Amino acid sequence: MRQIHLTARPDGVPTSELFAFVDTPDLTPPPGAALVENLWLSVDPYMREMMDAGSELNAPLEGRALGRVLSSHTPEYTAGDVVFHRGGWRTHALVRPQDSRLIEPVDGVPLSAHLGILGGTGLSAYVGLRRVLDLQPGETLFVSAAAGGVGTAAARIAKLLGAGRVIGSTGSGRKAKHLVDTVGYDVAINYRNGSLTEQLAAAAPDGIDAYLDNVGGDHLSAAIDVLKQNGRIAWCGAVSTYNHQASAAPGNLFDIVEKELRLEGFLVSNNLDLRPELIDFLTPHLQFGAVQSDQTVVDGFEHTVEAFLAMLRGENLGKMLVRL
Ligand SMILES: NC(=O)c1ccc[n+]([C@@H]2O[C@H](COP(=O)([O-])OP(=O)(O)OC[C@H]3O[C@@H](n4cnc5c(N)ncnc54)[C@H](OP(=O)(O)O)[C@@H]3O)[C@@H](O)[C@H]2O)c1
Repeated sequence: MRQIHLTARPDGVPTSELFAFVDTPDLTPPPGAALVENLWLSVDPYMREMMDAGSELNAPLEGRALGRVLSSHTPEYTAGDVVFHRGGWRTHALVRPQDSRLIEPVDGVPLSAHLGILGGTGLSAYVGLRRVLDLQPGETLFVSAAAGGVGTAAARIAKLLGAGRVIGSTGSGRKAKHLVDTVGYDVAINYRNGSLTEQLAAAAPDGIDAYLDNVGGDHLSAAIDVLKQNGRIAWCGAVSTYNHQASAAPGNLFDIVEKELRLEGFLVSNNLDLRPELIDFLTPHLQFGAVQSDQTVVDGFEHTVEAFLAMLRGENLGKMLVRL
């Protein structure tokens, strides 16, 4: 049984030297808990934010995981059940029903989708589009970090909701092509290819109605420039700032007043009531193959840190996951 610990705080871009693999004594579930062997681990941008202060040093990193119950001392779980928990980067975990959730397998839906489009990642996109933006059929939508977990889920969900033109931004031509060829974006911008505002204005000559912001900074600035009067922004994340490279607040923030824009931030953790609705909405589309849970899979617990660092560098298409 092994865990991954953060041993020092990163200064800027994190490196693998900040992490240690630690062997632990075998775990036995106490009354009220079950022993789980992890099958899938999630690596997420918010973990980088937590490494500045929130994550404890020399302790397992918190994180979302799917695991199979090996033995149980709680009536809620039996051996063989698959559960979702937040026990983090480790091969095995002790989970209690109040801190975890039974996953009901559905024919035709891969288990990993519960960390992707059916998990917190897809729910973030759904909350942003449905609850915050209230996206309407025919509207023009812009999504940043479009090739990532939230970004790919956002395009697939937006199209099911009847969106008009859906524009995404990403950091390479290869990923931009994939967004249009496979994910359902109408246009994809490579933000490394010159002015974002000019590229976005060219992609949406009549302006954009709504923006799901995963990046902040220059992306938020470009969106403010190109949004129509009374446009809406759902601020989901600011991944361009997590390694301290940039400021999340753009210089043209005051244009929000002139254009009478609405900007609203949200946390998926305070919108979990929408999860059953998301699962009911997406499951038939996943079963019939109309929608996929886009993912990049890295095999092996020993590659978890590499997967996390690669995700921060943008090497993932869809949700970055580790398969144990
Ligand atoms: N509010 C909430 O409750 C909530 C919940 C979940 C996620 N989020 C946020 O949603 C965003 C996406 O999360 P995710 O889990 O789906 O991650 P993700 O998009 O799968 O992975 C991160 C992506 O960010 C892009 N990126 C990295 N540095 C960048 C930079 N300097 N400028 C522009 N893009 C950059 C990379 O793609 P490129 O190759 O395209 O650069 C990378 O693939 C994050 O900001 C995250 O914090 C918020």
